Amino acid sequence: MQKQIKKIGVMTSGGDAPGMNAAIRAVVRACAYYKVKCIGYYRGYDGIIENDTIELTSRNVKNIINKGGTILKSARSKAFRTAIGRKKAFDNLVSENVDALVLIGGDGTFTGGALFSKEYNVPVIGIPGTIDNDIFGTQFTIGYDTALNTVIEAVDKIRDTASSHDRLFFVEVMGRDAGFIALNAGVGAGAEEILIPEEELPVAQLIESLKRSKRNGKTSSIVIVSEGDKTGKNVFELADYVKKNMENYSTRVTVLGHLQRGGSPSCFDRVLASRFGVKAVEVLLNGEQNVMVGIRNNVIVTTPIVEITKCKNSINTELLRISDILSI
Ligand code: F6P
Repeated sequence: MQKQIKKIGVMTSGGDAPGMNAAIRAVVRACAYYKVKCIGYYRGYDGIIENDTIELTSRNVKNIINKGGTILKSARSKAFRTAIGRKKAFDNLVSENVDALVLIGGDGTFTGGALFSKEYNVPVIGIPGTIDNDIFGTQFTIGYDTALNTVIEAVDKIRDTASSHDRLFFVEVMGRDAGFIALNAGVGAGAEEILIPEEELPVAQLIESLKRSKRNGKTSSIVIVSEGDKTGKNVFELADYVKKNMENYSTRVTVLGHLQRGGSPSCFDRVLASRFGVKAVEVLLNGEQNVMVGIRNNVIVTTPIVEITKCKNSINTELLRISDILSI
């Protein structure tokens, strides 16, 4: 028979994402609603290893639904990758009488969680929180919508200068391994070209396409470049190369960087985080474990964590086609 869940530990790990606080709030308040104790661990797995905790009650998660970042802080723990670190973490959970963990984070967070639950039989529930939207088992991750809106707002502003000065702008967006931000923000911001890790776009083809745009009367262009694009050049090298091959075109580079990870979460992310947080607690209390909550067709679903760590979501290639048509 499964152990009754009387106390839940919650933590945020990996890159922070807007909406993580809304998820913490939802977990804590669902625990209070169901009369389960809740503690928070600071700095992800590092906090479990160091037993760095805070008792979480409904009142101490007030006024955080609108805040970016994470009140529990976040980290990518090196110590948790070691057997000694995980043993220490387990001993600390036992000493605090924590029966289960809610892990808010991305791929790395769930890889650690899957291993931990296998080694020590600790029930874990994942909540996908990353701006990259690259988690299998969900159509949307917490923070992605906010990041998209941040990117298009920035690109809209860059467009003013691009158009006033007849310039070609390369805008680098986040996405080390995934092009979801680049692709969707690229279409949303009306970019001429979008470079993503999932699709090769030879530089020669990029130049040809930019030249065609010029011939068609365009005086300025925006190219969205995902961090992990496949050109083999960083965004500055790419801009230099294109400039050398396109006479009379003034080029500039903007790297949006970490401003994409901050800021107040959008309404979509707050609602998503609230739904995920409540469901994570309910799933645990219903005896399900070692799953991640996700959303599919507006329904909250669960997927085994081991599956999450093995599979990938593919990008919507239809959006590339749309972008091609619209950038004529
Ligand atoms: O949160 C995911 C992500 O934003 C990636 O797109 C990016 O490559 C990475 O985090 C950078 O994170 P950090 O600067 O914290 O190492």
